[in-house]
Amino acid sequence: MSTKPFQPLVVATNIEKTYRKGPVAVPVLKGVDMSVAKGELVSIIGQSGSGKSTLLHLLGTLDRPDAGEIHFEGNRIDNLAAAGRDVLRNRYIGLIFQFYHLLPELTAIENVLAPVMIRHSVLGYWAKRREYRERAKELLDTVGLGHRLNHKPRELSGGEMQRTAIARALIADPKLLLADEPTGNLDRETGEGILEVLRRLNTERGLSIIMVTHDPAIAAGADRTVNLVGGRVHTANQAAA
Ligand SMILES: Nc1ncnc2c1ncn2[C@@H]1O[C@H](COP(=O)(O)OP(=O)(O)OP(=O)(O)O)[C@@H](O)[C@H]1O
Ligand SMILES: [Mg+2]
Repeated sequence: MSTKPFQPLVVATNIEKTYRKGPVAVPVLKGVDMSVAKGELVSIIGQSGSGKSTLLHLLGTLDRPDAGEIHFEGNRIDNLAAAGRDVLRNRYIGLIFQFYHLLPELTAIENVLAPVMIRHSVLGYWAKRREYRERAKELLDTVGLGHRLNHKPRELSGGEMQRTAIARALIADPKLLLADEPTGNLDRETGEGILEVLRRLNTERGLSIIMVTHDPAIAAGADRTVNLVGGRVHTANQAAA
């Protein structure tokens, strides 16, 4: 929003990424510049194959650019070694995807707890288990799933699975949430419900969110839209924001 002071959270400069498959080089990002402020909800749109997921993965340190720099809270992150990137991602970045990626054998609350269970030693988790369970319940309440704690993914609707995935992404209290087509597998109404949840997390908790979407109606719910065309950014409605 125009009234928010622009305190940069993520700044990506001149990002290039080419995939190589044998002798074939597929240039995808050809000098992308984008920054996201603390407290902003930004959408990324662009045609299929334009590099939206690629860009999101680079911002989330799941992959590294061939050229350019990415800074997070003023620190360069694109050149960190794998271990450093893992720590950064675990502590500060939450990720959600189109197909939820929940573990089928775990209940909703166990899925939400999975990241902290993985992160801690058995003893470390055991010592804090009540605190974490309370936090997981509170997060599931926040996304409207307080009544579905013990349901497994197959016993949940698509929208409920995505809301579980959002709660899971927030268990470590990240500063940035990256969402790749979070409504892409849902009907319009359910998708709008997910957008409402994201918007509420953004306004109530100040969570910064970058959301990739195909859907112009969903993109319009963001503060600002970044449009990827031909491997570069066209900022669409910045002047209007
Ligand atoms: N690991 C890979 N190896 C080779 N090419 C890849 C790889 N990942 C993606 N690509 C190619 O890079 C291009 C960009 O892919 P990307 O997934 O970022 O697009 P997208 O904008 O997210 O598309 P969609 O809207 O369909 O999800 C595509 O042409 C894709 O085929
Ligand atoms: Mg994609």
